[in-house]
Amino acid sequence: MAPPSDSDNSAPIPAGAISKLLIVIAMQTEALPLVNKFHLVEAEESIFPKGAPWIRYHGDYKGLHIDLVWPGKDPVLGVDCVGTVSAALVTYASIQSLKPDLIINAGTAGGFKAKGADIGDVYLASDVAFHDRRIPIPVFDMYGIGTRKTFATPNILKELNLKVGKLSTGDSLDMSPHDESAILNNDATVKDMEGAAVAYVADMFSTPAIFVKAVTDIVDGEKPTAEEFLQNLVAVTAALDKAVTEVVDFISGKCISDL
Ligand code: ADE
Repeated sequence: MAPPSDSDNSAPIPAGAISKLLIVIAMQTEALPLVNKFHLVEAEESIFPKGAPWIRYHGDYKGLHIDLVWPGKDPVLGVDCVGTVSAALVTYASIQSLKPDLIINAGTAGGFKAKGADIGDVYLASDVAFHDRRIPIPVFDMYGIGTRKTFATPNILKELNLKVGKLSTGDSLDMSPHDESAILNNDATVKDMEGAAVAYVADMFSTPAIFVKAVTDIVDGEKPTAEEFLQNLVAVTAALDKAVTEVVDFISGKCISDL
């Protein structure tokens, strides 16, 4: 008899186990190794409105149905649609159509060495917030920052070798002095361009979401961010893929309350 494959669904899945997993990733370079790892295929029929460049891959892996969505390329400029607008839109459309049990937002991030981050470290975010939505009016200020706790996964943390830290999100790769003080106020260890936007939409529709972020560049280091990011993107993506695979393997056969 052939050994069970990754996509084998014959193993009994406990009642109440997570069955539909949505992975949201901003960049093609980050997404494709996971597409290959989980043997996903590009969906032939789009669940997304006509005109949206968003791409969905799907397939079965260890008792889970995985949908991996990527916002695709800008139709005019041909670059990945990074940032909060595309991330929120594709998360919204995916939740409406796929009704996932759990979302993983995976991607790369800048890390702060003053908070212990190093290149290649992989973080599970405990909290998310925005750092470039400044509205200095009482209560609107808090709405702009949008701090929220992420879905708690104490057993994933116990089992896997992931660091924990707060994630701050903004629409720029670099860091202005304004961003810097907001990130400090957010007590963030890692900085990305999508997390808090995905969290906002996931919360709106009561969908648990976790955030796996791998450090490509040291924000408070010597090297220019864009240069360091591009230099490390491919190598760090391998660390990200390993961590996401371990998280997905852990999730397989578990209930949400087991995480
Ligand atoms: N993704 C990778 N590095 C980043 C940085 N420094 N800021 C925002 N997003 C990132």
